[in-house]
Amino acid sequence: MRKKIVAGNWKMHKNAAQTAELLNELVAKLPADTTAQVIVAPTFVNLAAAVSQLEGKAITVAAQNVHQAEGGAFTGEITADMLTSVGVNTVILGHSERRAIFHESDALIAEKVNTALKHDMTVIFCFGEELKDRQDKQHFNIVENQLRDGLFQIEKGSWSKVVLAYEPVWAIGTGETASPEQAQEMHEFIRETVRKVFGAEVADEVSILYGGSVKPENAVEIFSKPDVDGGLIGGAALKADDFLAIVKAAV
Ligand code: G3P
Repeated sequence: MRKKIVAGNWKMHKNAAQTAELLNELVAKLPADTTAQVIVAPTFVNLAAAVSQLEGKAITVAAQNVHQAEGGAFTGEITADMLTSVGVNTVILGHSERRAIFHESDALIAEKVNTALKHDMTVIFCFGEELKDRQDKQHFNIVENQLRDGLFQIEKGSWSKVVLAYEPVWAIGTGETASPEQAQEMHEFIRETVRKVFGAEVADEVSILYGGSVKPENAVEIFSKPDVDGGLIGGAALKADDFLAIVKAAV
């Protein structure tokens, strides 16, 4: 059985007090019988506090980015060692906002993936096509290329530390969700692409999350699809009740 995962990407939201408040509410309301793995990704400055607040709780803290180098003159950046030294062992990489706004290429993302894995971190690897790619019927090609150029350099043994997150860019923060059928079609394609290169064991084990306007109202249907193993949630992760309703949908 593949792991079900629901991760909240808080993006550039919540100051220190707001972070503590949301985490408190999540801890208080998370049902004890929750089977899905729950992950939250606050901003860098709130990570260490989040880790100590969540000590012993069933919620994992992730970072939203990491630099590929081990250290040096890179003003404003953070190393994998800095993250793991404060107890953050999971990182989101390849998010479409990093790709589009901060010009992260597949090659750069591949370097970041390698660095994170070297530090034994779990990587939530994000990818997905833009609207134009889908209109041009290039979405499968784009997704395959993002996987091959950003991730497939890893060794087979590293896949236990990888979670895939398919996020069609046109569905992020737009209120427009891929239909459950569109999500399933792409997730199945992704799993087959992984199978061709790394074999059945890896393909059957890797969790593939869907991201893009997931809400309590649509989570059950999307998560019911056989190749959808949970979600990467943006806006709806900022309210405890909404996020927990989505977590509940991942069974
Ligand atoms: O990483 C999560 C994401 O980009 C989806 O955002 O707000 O559409 O759920 P949202």
